[in-house]
Amino acid sequence: MRRPLMAGNWKMHLTLDAAQALARGVVEGLERALPGDDGVEVALCPPFTALERVGRVLEGTPVALGAQDLFWEDQGAYTGEVSGLQLVDLGCRYVIVGHSERRHVFGESNQAVQRKLGAALRHGLAPILCVGERIEERRAGRADSWVQDQLRTAVAELKPGEARRLTIAYEPVWAIGTGEHASGEEANRMAGVIRSLLEELFDAQVAAAVRILYGGSVKPANVGEFLAQPQVDGALVGGASLEAEGFVAMAVEAR
Ligand code: G3H
Repeated sequence: MRRPLMAGNWKMHLTLDAAQALARGVVEGLERALPGDDGVEVALCPPFTALERVGRVLEGTPVALGAQDLFWEDQGAYTGEVSGLQLVDLGCRYVIVGHSERRHVFGESNQAVQRKLGAALRHGLAPILCVGERIEERRAGRADSWVQDQLRTAVAELKPGEARRLTIAYEPVWAIGTGEHASGEEANRMAGVIRSLLEELFDAQVAAAVRILYGGSVKPANVGEFLAQPQVDGALVGGASLEAEGFVAMAVEAR
């Protein structure tokens, strides 16, 4: 049985005080709406700058702390990078790996994503691996093979015991921050494509254990459409996670 996950990716938003206030709003909202309920897992992924401050708010609460990226080396002369070791030190449980903005704005390759995924697992972090096609691939009828290639390369070095620990977020690039979103049916179909490949690459147990989220313009008004899908186990939410009340409402709907 896969426990749904509602994860908020705050991207490059919020100063320290604003991040702290938002985290408090989420924690308090969840305490009111779902006291003692563990039917849904909730994670907040603030920017690196706010990890420590938000981590203090989340300490002792059921809400998990996540980072938005990591580098594959543990330490060294890598200006501007942050390692898995440092994220664990800050109390992170989750880390997003291979987000489409990392891939397309910063040129991160499938191979780089593979190394980052390996580092996350080595440090005991729970990776949220993002995959998703651009509008070009979708129009050319290559969405499935594009996502399969991303996944195949990312997990190429993993053993089944490691692959089981993944959460995968299917995020079509054309749906991110655009207000346009995949239909529930299509999100379900793509999640099915991902699950079938996991079975082919590993085994049926891995395929059944891995959580698959949908991401891309998810908001309170449409989240139900995705959560109703049998292959979809929650959402990775960007813009709509910056508002506590709406984010809490989505978490409540996911349980
Ligand atoms: O990580 C989250 C996704 O990029 C979705 O962002 O909800 O703002 O479209 P969005």
